[in-house]
Amino acid sequence: MHYGRESWDWFHSTFCVKIILEKNKGILYKHIGAKLAEMVKVPIIVTGGARNVDEMNEILNNSKIQYFGLARPLICESDLIKKWKEGKTKKAKCVSCNSCIIPNKDYATCIFNRKEKDIERLEPADFKSIKMGEYKITYLPDGEGYTIPSFAYLDSTDEDWNKKKKYLNKEGKSLMSIWSFLIEYKTEKILFDLGLGDKHFSLPEGNWDGGDILENLKKAGFDRKDITKVIYSHFHPSHVGWTSIEENGKRVLTFPNANYYSTKTNGISGPIKLMNL
Ligand SMILES: Cc1cc2nc3c(=O)[nH]c(=O)nc-3n(C[C@H](O)[C@H](O)[C@H](O)COP(=O)(O)O)c2cc1C
Ligand code: SF4
Repeated sequence: MHYGRESWDWFHSTFCVKIILEKNKGILYKHIGAKLAEMVKVPIIVTGGARNVDEMNEILNNSKIQYFGLARPLICESDLIKKWKEGKTKKAKCVSCNSCIIPNKDYATCIFNRKEKDIERLEPADFKSIKMGEYKITYLPDGEGYTIPSFAYLDSTDEDWNKKKKYLNKEGKSLMSIWSFLIEYKTEKILFDLGLGDKHFSLPEGNWDGGDILENLKKAGFDRKDITKVIYSHFHPSHVGWTSIEENGKRVLTFPNANYYSTKTNGISGPIKLMNL
C-alpha cells in the first residue's frame, strides 16, 4: 500500500508546529564545529539549525567558525538573506519540521507556502516519525476509506463538490486516511486512536479498509504489549478498530498492558476531557 501525506500535514499544522517552535534548540553543531575550527586551517562552515542572527553573530565573535550554511530556512523564505542584510534580523520562520520534501515531486516546498498542486490528495498519509524535545510522535497508517464527500463533510452538498472535482477520485469519492498516532514520552508508549482494525466494510456511502496498524507499530520498533496507554478521541468505527483482537478463539484486548482513556461524553466530537475507562 502506498501512502501520501495529507493527514500528516493536518497533524503538523494543528499540533506539531507549535511544539517544535517551543523546542527549537538553535545551531546544532556549534560545539563540535568550534573544536574543529581550532584544529584545522581551512574555514569551517556549520550547517543545521541556524535561524537566529544574534546566535550566529555570537558564534562568529567567540569561535573560529567562519560561515553558516542554511538550507530549510531558505525553502521557507527565499528572501531571508536579503531581509537580514537590510537589517530586518527577525528569526527565520522555519520550524525544522522536515515536511519540505513532497513524495513524487522533484522539488521541495515549505508547509507555510504550500500550494494546492503540491498536495497529494488522493493517497492516504504515509508512515512518518518526528521528534519534538522529549516526545517522539509516529503516524501509524491503518488503511483508507473512500466516501461520498457530502457524507463525510456534513455541511457540504453534491453541488459544492461538483465544483471541486480535483479533490475526488474517478468515482467521485473523497479519501480518508485511517490511522493511529504513537506518542513516545519517557517510559510511556501511548496510542492516540486505534484505526479501523483488520476489516473491510462497504456501505452505499463508501468503503473502508484497515489492517496495517500492528505491522506499522512493529516498524516503529514496538510490540502491542509495549503500549502503556490508549486515548480515544471519539468512538467512530475508524478510531476504535484495534481495541480487541481474536486470540485462541477469544476476543482479547489488543494492548493488554495499557490503560484506556476516552472523552467524558464518549461523544462523536468535542473537546477532550479524559476519563479512565
Ligand atoms: C530538501 C532538502 C534537500 C537536501 N539535500 C541534501 C543533499 O543532497 N545532500 C546533503 O548533504 N544535504 C542535503 N540536505 C541537508 C541540508 O544540506 C542541511 O544540512 C540540513 O537541512 C540542515 O540545515 P538547515 O537546518 O539549515 O536546514 C537537504 C535538506 C533539505 C531540506
Ligand atoms: S517545511 Fe521545511 S522549510 Fe518549512 S518549516 Fe518545515 S522544515 Fe522549515
